[in-house]
Amino acid sequence: MQSQVSHEPHLSGIFLVGFMGAGKTSVGLALARYLNWAFEDLDERIERLERRSVPEIFRDSGESEFRRAEHAAVRSVLAELEGGAVRVVALGGGAFVQENNAALLKAAGVPTVFLDAPVEELWQRCSKQAVEAGTERPLLGTINQFRDLFEARRKHYLQASHKIPTEGRSFEEIAAEIAETLGLKRIEIRTQQGEVE
Ligand code: S3P
Repeated sequence: MQSQVSHEPHLSGIFLVGFMGAGKTSVGLALARYLNWAFEDLDERIERLERRSVPEIFRDSGESEFRRAEHAAVRSVLAELEGGAVRVVALGGGAFVQENNAALLKAAGVPTVFLDAPVEELWQRCSKQAVEAGTERPLLGTINQFRDLFEARRKHYLQASHKIPTEGRSFEEIAAEIAETLGLKRIEIRTQQGEVE
């Protein structure tokens, strides 16, 4: 008799992947709100664990040290999910490109969602965030470097379990599509008066 092995992912964690400017944090927050799950930005976990900012890690210790810290952070978040935590996690733009992280996430069976957008739109968003919010991205570089890095990485992002096009769409729309794609229902929170929030 053939054994029936279930390959259903356990859905206590959803990982958003994609290039810089893909909207991983904004979509992650919208998705967490939609599902009433907790949200986490992996870069913030790295900064907490390392007690310094991402630009500081790059500047003082280099990219390879950042990748080591990033891998430790992926491991620790997965350990928490295995312990029962429920979370939407936004990964930094390079995390899923590292084979060791991609392999860990695949082995854990958690959904990984690639937020896809044309490189021109990603560049526009990152440039705008740099000017308006002072967002510092150590690997931003020039438009040509940005495009080359995007092209080298895209095949890795395409290894994610799901791909969602994001061009010209609102964060809420994208979040709703992710929930629907993963077969997750919106959680409505009722206030004491019985109103739906
Ligand atoms: C990186 C992207 C950043 C951050 C770090 C490295 C990358 O995150 O993890 O600067 O390699 O693309 P965002 O994608 O949130 O900008």
